[in-house]
Amino acid sequence: MNRAASLWIAALAPAVLLGCGGGEGSSTGSSAAGGDITGGGAPSTGGVPNTGGSKAAGGTTNAGGLSATGGALDTGGAKSTGGSLAMGGKTSTGGVPNTGGSKAAGGTTSAGGLPSGGGASDTGGARSTGGSSPSGGTSSNGGAASTGGSKANGGATSTGGSKSNGGTTSAGGAASSGGSGVGGTTMDSSGPPMGWASWNSFAGTITYNIIKAQADAFVSSGLKAAGYQFVNIDEGWWQGTRDSSGNITTIASDWPGGMQAIADYIHGLGLKAGIYTDAGKDGCGYYYPTGRPAAPGSGSEGHYDQDFLQFSKWGFDFVKVDWCGGNSEGLDSKTAYTAISNSIQKATAQTGRPMVFSVCNWGNQSPWNWAPSISTMWRTSGDIIYYGGTADMNRVLPNFDSALHPTAQSLGHYNDPDMLIVGMKGFSLAQNRTHMALWAISGAPLLAGNNLESMSADTKSVLTNSDVLAIDQDPLAKQGTKVADTSGLQVYSRVLSGTNRRAVLLLNRTTSAATITARFADIGLGATATVRDVWAGTDLGSKTTSYAVSVPTYDSVLLIVTGA
Ligand code: GLA
Repeated sequence: MNRAASLWIAALAPAVLLGCGGGEGSSTGSSAAGGDITGGGAPSTGGVPNTGGSKAAGGTTNAGGLSATGGALDTGGAKSTGGSLAMGGKTSTGGVPNTGGSKAAGGTTSAGGLPSGGGASDTGGARSTGGSSPSGGTSSNGGAASTGGSKANGGATSTGGSKSNGGTTSAGGAASSGGSGVGGTTMDSSGPPMGWASWNSFAGTITYNIIKAQADAFVSSGLKAAGYQFVNIDEGWWQGTRDSSGNITTIASDWPGGMQAIADYIHGLGLKAGIYTDAGKDGCGYYYPTGRPAAPGSGSEGHYDQDFLQFSKWGFDFVKVDWCGGNSEGLDSKTAYTAISNSIQKATAQTGRPMVFSVCNWGNQSPWNWAPSISTMWRTSGDIIYYGGTADMNRVLPNFDSALHPTAQSLGHYNDPDMLIVGMKGFSLAQNRTHMALWAISGAPLLAGNNLESMSADTKSVLTNSDVLAIDQDPLAKQGTKVADTSGLQVYSRVLSGTNRRAVLLLNRTTSAATITARFADIGLGATATVRDVWAGTDLGSKTTSYAVSVPTYDSVLLIVTGA
């Protein structure tokens, strides 16, 4: 069976991985004990008001004279203000509720999700933990933004407490606010990954020089400025060799400086780097060699911890794990990808570098049912194109259909209909727009696959249209759903953030041009709405009840509809 046929069949069941998850910790600042009313001195007699101790030192209990005999009531000294000696709340007892304390260090010592603290020992922040569990914080360094314990944000973007102020602004006596620490759920706050991947245009022919040139073009063409981030090295970088300790080795003439050098180069451009392996013993480069000789051993089975730690140490921020070996060996997708996710989390715990985990088992064993909890994205179908092939809407549309699993998708976790073929041989501007619109309406990862060095202005305009990217990246991260279908004249609607906003795709899957009507009632809006045509960049004004437009065969119209 050839690669296309066998992968297409295999595609009936893929998977994805991505490490994430994390503990959630909440801490509530307990009031600092202490303080209370400190009084000073011994009981005064003779009616002279006892002023109590001149100053409560850090809240040590001052036994002020509570009742002066023969005199006015002893005030026992005012309230102690927590005292300059209150340190981190730890021992400070002075004053009314003490907070954080000047030394609460909000997780400075936390790393990789180890208990961090918006002041571990500070009574203001009690124990605000970003990333209370190792898994939560593995790729996050908990306690990141914990300010006096008021809020610890664990998670991918947090940085080990470096920003925590742990109570610097709190002075003894102020209100204690431990706040809530949110354990890090890795990458949850990220939109669908945007970048470029090497496979569609280069297959196994990739080298340092090819990736470097694409990375340069990524920046010079404006993809970076539009928000794209990842430069992903797909299959072909590794011929399956290892040294005597099992460490991956690469061909020095293709990758001078090893894989770290290319990751460094990509980082130097302000971008992120992605790499690729297989869940089985042998990768796709063994079963379906494309552009290089067959590569036995080009999979990570038996080396999960070692390989993912290696990728992380080299500096990679994204890893796609394919399924050629796993499929051939009859491995269980969920089991294998869960083990890989765990290895990635361990690697991140060690290096501090979060990695997007991209499960690529082509929809095998319904990954939308199990991959969201272990990965960022999971392929739902076979390949959208085979190397050297021609872009074809008859592959784009089935991949789009296969990826519609709205309940599986949430911020940080995405169905993946495969990399883009926008701008590749065979597609017109209209087809590129429809392909891009389909991915945007479904909130799919956007990994361009065209050769960026030779990208046309039209292709660039499709990949960088700001309305389309905003739809794809909408923070609600909802997938669009089909709301109407009249014999192939379809309407998809995606709820966007904001008030009464929808992205609406009118898709003509018939063989002739036809009018498609978006009825506002079908998309959950009232009688009046304004309509914007995204590709035309035109506001069409206010419409009543519906908007109808003629759509050419196998073409589409993308709208943003805003209800009154
Ligand atoms: C599989 C994947 C593709 C690509 C190739 C590399 O077919 O689905 O996206 O990574 O392997 O061989």
